[in-house]
Amino acid sequence: MTGREIHFNLFMRLQGNHLAGWRQPGNRIAEVLDIDYYIEIARKVEAAKFDSLFIADGLSIISHPWKALSWLFEPLTLLSALAVSTKHIGLIATASTTYADPFGIARAFASLDHISKGRAAWNIVTTFHPESAANFGDRPQLEHVTRYDRAAEFVDVVRKLWGSWDADALVADKTAGTLVDYRKVRAIDHRGKYFNVRGPLTSPRPPQGHPLLVQAGASASGQQFAGTYADAIYAPGDHLDQTLAFTSQIREATERAGRPRNAIAVLAALCPVLADTEQKAKQIAEELHELSSADHVYGSMRSWFGLELEAIGLDERIPDELLPEPNEVQGLRSRYEQILHLIRERNYTLRDIAKHLEGSNDGGYFIGTPEQLADRIGQWWEAGAVDGFNLSLPYYDEPLDIFIDEVLPILRKRGQFRTEYAAGTLRERFRDGTS
Ligand SMILES: Cc1cc2nc3c(=O)[nH]c(=O)nc-3n(C[C@H](O)[C@H](O)[C@H](O)COP(=O)(O)O)c2cc1C
Repeated sequence: MTGREIHFNLFMRLQGNHLAGWRQPGNRIAEVLDIDYYIEIARKVEAAKFDSLFIADGLSIISHPWKALSWLFEPLTLLSALAVSTKHIGLIATASTTYADPFGIARAFASLDHISKGRAAWNIVTTFHPESAANFGDRPQLEHVTRYDRAAEFVDVVRKLWGSWDADALVADKTAGTLVDYRKVRAIDHRGKYFNVRGPLTSPRPPQGHPLLVQAGASASGQQFAGTYADAIYAPGDHLDQTLAFTSQIREATERAGRPRNAIAVLAALCPVLADTEQKAKQIAEELHELSSADHVYGSMRSWFGLELEAIGLDERIPDELLPEPNEVQGLRSRYEQILHLIRERNYTLRDIAKHLEGSNDGGYFIGTPEQLADRIGQWWEAGAVDGFNLSLPYYDEPLDIFIDEVLPILRKRGQFRTEYAAGTLRERFRDGTS
């Protein structure tokens, strides 16, 4: 298939994206540190022709014990192993612009791009968890606006470094005795507000030129950043209207940055609970809820929004005086706005918030049959709300099998999803598939 088609990215977290996913009878939690398990799943989604898989990352342990395994592997290390076990699937690694340095990141992603032959992507994050600061010295967490300011210069430097070798600088002409044409390898001599970097990079130009840049920026600063730099963006996925509004804001931010309106592929959150009847799917969702523990909400509120709520009971509503305005929140600001809305408009207690967050950190919770999901996917796509979806599964392996065996064939029959990979790099696949 050529032209416009739905993109699917797997948010690969094998303990499950639902808080209680690891407790499901079929979940292979004992294998969650076994690289063979990751290779098996990566090959499965590649056989199903997904665009990419994605490894999230944080730099501090999350306070609830059930969340302590959220960042099991350093993403670039894990994806290097998956790069040599697969051939086509895109590999999206998360790395932080707040706690890393541009030279190291440019080098690591250039390496992954060479190892994977043009399939590397960088999920650019500014790391919102305040606990991470304590793992990198004594300075407190940088403010939200400063993190994005630093991120912009960081990405500028990385892009200059990727461009510091021309594509034909590596000559390797044995007869002429020319290994590298040094006229085509240049220092970047960057001197800025946050970084001084001379360059050039130690690796020749990556096969994609620039590995794909992915981001999730929902706040005003986040959207401006995305408009300037991102090739793909994670979007909220709870309601069609909300996603349509988000996507049009992103398209406008992209145009304001002087880029083509559709330059960014919008990938909405999708966390489906599927069964052959709606009734059965609801039952599975209810079972997952029964297996969950609501007290994770205290750790999430602290880590995401800086709120200390231990004195508030689970069945209480957070008192107004403890709720800051969104622009005072230094962590996950956009998610806070959604939670604030639920507290103010729907009177959510802490237990309601816990339930709301247990299914998927990023929203897009869907309960129903494969046919219903295929209809919803098609409807969102036809409406122009999305270019694709970021699939978070509540647990493994059954929900992935149902998605591949029962949802994708419906989309293929409708001509909305590929049957084969086209030749080319990940960047080319995203460019060709974007509306
Ligand atoms: C699907 C998705 C995946 C994300 N993955 C990570 C991650 O791996 N590490 C991280 O620190 N932040 C992650 N984030 C958070 C974003 O980087 C960003 O902080 C968040 O979307 C809030 O943006 P804002 O501060 O502009 O509101 C993710 C967000 C979404 C929606």
